[in-house]
Amino acid sequence: MFPRNVFPTTSEVNEAGHLVIGGCDTVDLAAEFGTPLYIFDDATLRGRCRSFVQEFNKRYPNTTVAYASKAYVNPAVAQIFADEGLGLDVVSGGELAVAQAINFPKELVYFHGSNKTAAELEQAVEWKIGRIVIDSFHELGLLEEVAASAGTSQDVLLRVSPSIDPHTHEKTTTGVLDSKFGFAIETGHAAEAVRQAVAAPHLNLKGLHFHLGSPIFELQPYRDGVEVVLEFAASMREEGLDLQEFSPGGGFAIAYTADQNPPTPADYAEAIIGTMTAECDRLGLDLPHLTIEPGRAIAGPAGVALYRVGAVKEIPGVRRYVSVDGGMGDNIRPALYDAAYEAVVANRVNDRGEQVATIAGKYCESGDVLIKDVLLPAIDGSGKDLIAIPASGAYCIPMASNYNLNPKPPIVLVNNGQARLIRRRETFQDQMLLDVA
Ligand code: LLP
Repeated sequence: MFPRNVFPTTSEVNEAGHLVIGGCDTVDLAAEFGTPLYIFDDATLRGRCRSFVQEFNKRYPNTTVAYASKAYVNPAVAQIFADEGLGLDVVSGGELAVAQAINFPKELVYFHGSNKTAAELEQAVEWKIGRIVIDSFHELGLLEEVAASAGTSQDVLLRVSPSIDPHTHEKTTTGVLDSKFGFAIETGHAAEAVRQAVAAPHLNLKGLHFHLGSPIFELQPYRDGVEVVLEFAASMREEGLDLQEFSPGGGFAIAYTADQNPPTPADYAEAIIGTMTAECDRLGLDLPHLTIEPGRAIAGPAGVALYRVGAVKEIPGVRRYVSVDGGMGDNIRPALYDAAYEAVVANRVNDRGEQVATIAGKYCESGDVLIKDVLLPAIDGSGKDLIAIPASGAYCIPMASNYNLNPKPPIVLVNNGQARLIRRRETFQDQMLLDVA
């Protein structure tokens, strides 16, 4: 059966049994743009932006939804986020440069990251971005110097760590004590960072940020995090902290497989805003401006990866390998996090599942497996079959590599039957462009 909940909202199966996204037949897209190909559905992308904006704003109008660029950004999609009224969370000079390239409203740009360089901080201060989120004592000192020599005062937030386990993958857990990110409340470092930031003449401390990790399928870690950080904020009032802004980060989950049923944007809004308003009331704090930073939950459901099947290898009684023309170079997540995905045969979606297969990539690594054990219609090595993997809009392309010197795939944005190329396929020449003979 077609796992509708993990595909973009415009997905349908046409009379020929082909997967159609945004009114575009994926068989035609493969013919026109080649494979591997990443397809982003404009309607799903905007729909996800709007549901976060609406669900948070209707409960708490004083909210900014800042899209976490690291999930996937380029100038074309950054423009969509600007058009939808979102802010932008960037974590490098490169992501900041994309914001600059499209003249993203700079007051809505938040600069995160655990080890920003002096050059990156200068780039941000010179462009006069909205907020820099300070992650360490090193950065606190560096940014004070940068702002001083630019003759300006920079609005900042401090990233604090509340020592809360959000029960997600160890490699994507951040808000625990043993983490490279932020100032731990538990150790007293957060309190010291507040004192230093308040005292810094060129830093204007607006509030606090925390991010627990991702994806977070439970609501309780958000409630706990909001409580711990607001309690900390109240305890720092006498040290000069005026909490005008508050950010519980991102980490909102999506369904990768048909059986997953993550909280909705409304559920997250209810948990965060409910706890925040109750705690502010209890602690006598003024209600702050709220910023949330969804990345995956906006881009993830909008993207589908499309591959062509090549070699098929049957090891009797052991495993059937179905190899595709992409793999760990465009989606490292299964290899890195044991991430699970669904797949359909895009050129015959309605055919009955008959065989359990392992979808392997083309890279020279045994660990290059995209999906272990997925039920598919019988696939031969004719080269006609296309595999579509949904929920591929976040953290696939941005983490892509040129391993084995495979060029990175192109990206198309589909809408109402039109496919717009927003990134062309890399060529071998592109790959050698920076090499010096
Ligand atoms: N805000 C901060 C400060 C973050 O560090 C992150 C993600 C986000 C927001 C956005 O989280 P999201 O809403 O997208 O879950 N490569 C991993 C995910 C690492 C996320 C790092 N920080 C993956 O593929 O699952």
